Amino acid sequence: MEILIAKNYEEMSKLGYDVIKKVVTSKPNAILGLATGGTPVGLYKNMIEDCKNGVVSYKDISTINLDEYLGLDGNDNQSYRYFMNTNLFDHIDIDKKNTYLPNGKAEDRQAECERYSKLADEMQQDVQILGIGSNGHIAFNEPGTAFDSRTHVVDLTENTIKDNARFFDKIEDVPTQAFTMGISNIVNAKKILLLASGANKADAIYQTIKGTPSENCPASALQNHPDVIFVLDEAAASKL
Ligand code: F6R
Repeated sequence: MEILIAKNYEEMSKLGYDVIKKVVTSKPNAILGLATGGTPVGLYKNMIEDCKNGVVSYKDISTINLDEYLGLDGNDNQSYRYFMNTNLFDHIDIDKKNTYLPNGKAEDRQAECERYSKLADEMQQDVQILGIGSNGHIAFNEPGTAFDSRTHVVDLTENTIKDNARFFDKIEDVPTQAFTMGISNIVNAKKILLLASGANKADAIYQTIKGTPSENCPASALQNHPDVIFVLDEAAASKL
């Protein structure tokens, strides 16, 4: 396990990007596991800038995302597909047909979960980017989720709905269910890059890195992974 401490969000984003840049330049057809949320947006901006400057190309890169809200179409501006298009894919030279997210509108949920887990197995992320919830969740694997879980439908906790409400006009608009990769689909990645910024993540980061691995803190499953890099700003690292 490697832990890098950055002064602030900007430096965290830059250090995180350096990890991705190394993977993409050494393997031009790499598979990137991507996350949504506020945390990776700065890293995505670094990717966009270097791509625009011709330093790095994504034309042979494929991506697979962690999760998607249930019931939202990819054109819905609150869907994670829309988030990924507007925050990354629309601005780099990636072929969008090589970018994968769960289908939020899938009618047969079980079949969609099985399809997505199989896809994740087949692709096997060269590097998986993760944020972390203030309760220690990774993707939408809330406390209590088994470490051997595969893609499943989750009822979002009140805590997560509250955290995500900042992206919506009102809290009632936040979807209450999502498709999420399971913890086993995440730790199957060859390398994990977890980013965290802000004092509200400090307890979760402490439990993740220093706590005994337990389902109470889903991110603590990463302690068993052979190649994990944590890039934390000073506030998120303040309890270590
Ligand atoms: C996003 C995801 C979530 C977020 C986490 C942190 O695809 O799966 O686990 O990484 O909720 O969110 P932010 O970055 O908004 O603090």
